[in-house]
Amino acid sequence: MRAELSFTPVAGAQSELLVVLAADTQAAKGAEAKPQPTLLTTDEAIKSAAAAVLASGEFKAGANETVLIHAPAGLAARRLLVIGLGKQAKATIHSVRNAAGTAVRFAKPRGIRELVFVLPASGELPAAPSARAAVEGAFVGDFDPDTYRSDRKDQSIQSFTVAAIQDVDKPFVESAFAEGIVIGESQNFTRALVNEPGNKLTPTVLGQRAAAMAAEAGLKAEVYSTEKLHELKMGAFWSVSQGSAEPPALIVLRYEPEGVKDGPVLALVGKGITFDTGGISIKPSDNMEKMKYDMAGGAAMIGAMRAIALLKPRVRVIGIVCAAENMPDGKAQKPGDVQTAMSGKTIEIINTDAEGRLVLADGLTYARQLGATHLIDAATLTGAIGVALGMVNAGAFSNDDPTFAKFESALTISGEKFWRMPLGEEYAEQIKSDIGDIKNTGGRYGGAITAAEFLKAFVEDTPWIHLDIAGMAWIDDVKPYIAKGPSGVGVRSILEWVRSFSSVPQP
Ligand code: BES
Ligand code: MN
Ligand code: ZN
Repeated sequence: MRAELSFTPVAGAQSELLVVLAADTQAAKGAEAKPQPTLLTTDEAIKSAAAAVLASGEFKAGANETVLIHAPAGLAARRLLVIGLGKQAKATIHSVRNAAGTAVRFAKPRGIRELVFVLPASGELPAAPSARAAVEGAFVGDFDPDTYRSDRKDQSIQSFTVAAIQDVDKPFVESAFAEGIVIGESQNFTRALVNEPGNKLTPTVLGQRAAAMAAEAGLKAEVYSTEKLHELKMGAFWSVSQGSAEPPALIVLRYEPEGVKDGPVLALVGKGITFDTGGISIKPSDNMEKMKYDMAGGAAMIGAMRAIALLKPRVRVIGIVCAAENMPDGKAQKPGDVQTAMSGKTIEIINTDAEGRLVLADGLTYARQLGATHLIDAATLTGAIGVALGMVNAGAFSNDDPTFAKFESALTISGEKFWRMPLGEEYAEQIKSDIGDIKNTGGRYGGAITAAEFLKAFVEDTPWIHLDIAGMAWIDDVKPYIAKGPSGVGVRSILEWVRSFSSVPQP
């Protein structure tokens, strides 16, 4: 998809599809209060072309609600699409992002390959963040997961133009727009990886894909395998991969901006289980095919590293992905086995299906050894997080309030939903082992929390955030602005968290 930014009046734009936003400006509540759809544009030609349909009452400007007008009078465009943002008081740049996705997903199946998206004229929705959100949403909306269909018709959008018709600070809007392209493409990069089936995307292939991206984006990349795991004494990571014919991959990406020699070193550590059968504690067959997305945390880190490399914040960042396949086999680890992690801690394996925490334990230890001052990990770690938070919020955990505060501010920019979950000594009690230091499961109750406590035992005092994205990394229901399938959750928030550490350049 080609994305462009224009500052010229849209009435004369020759386009297949002109898209304008509307909000419900009815403030009153109660049965009497009828929706009051109001166009968010100052363009008189658009207003008069849409006047009749707005007056009809059939369009209520609900979030992502659409109404299409063919051959709109007074406009050069062939069609005018009005998209609702919902109640005006609640409309944010995140509603704009979704509306742009809705516009693209409206166009795709109709054979429309080019559209012009009119930025809202409203004080609450400033031009620069709206332009960025719109282009992000357009890229996200343009992604479809059906890559292996032999009769696949490429319906992707060729050209998406954001029309800023306000009296705006041009360079400011231009740079926000350019950022939006990088971010939307990086999120899709992650989604494409997550979408790949386990037979196509083995740990080795994930390593190759990460290294190819790194070469393109200008990151240093090292991809190690079995030998390095043994050399580093990564007994926990290795224990997961030992039952698979596919060798593991330890992927290390480094972003080292010129002139940044001190300050924080951030490490992004991702779970990269390219397929999770559960191992000897094998999973039921129902829905097991979904476990190809068990590398979504790792893929989020690779996508975030891509965006970091291109947007160049002034802070050093290391990306670490622990990739393995969790398989049952004659060589696989067994419940009751005791493994020695890289940190020296001994782990009693209760359930071989609690493998994500094992690979991350060593990934986090390695990050600290490489000099990380702040850690963030992302993982499809537990089914329990979905039970706790549904498919609305992903889970977040932290051992450090200031570090987490930065993440909370990142969320206001990314628009992603994460809910902070508790940690605590009482939960850690559940994972004490009788034979060794720690066991890898803590029973039924608080399963997402005991998993986080397990990781916490390996980060010790280093400020750390853990993101459990198991409930959010795969979308099962149709939404107007994003396809079913891999969501790419985490990429935008992790990127913004990293950018919040960027130092001001010295003169
Ligand atoms: N990869 C799964 C978690 C998962 C579940 C991801 C559903 C996405 C959707 C993880 O490795 C796992 O199997 N966790 C177990 C832990 C249990 C054995 C303590 C779980 O959640 O059941
Ligand atoms: Mn598992
Ligand atoms: Zn798993």
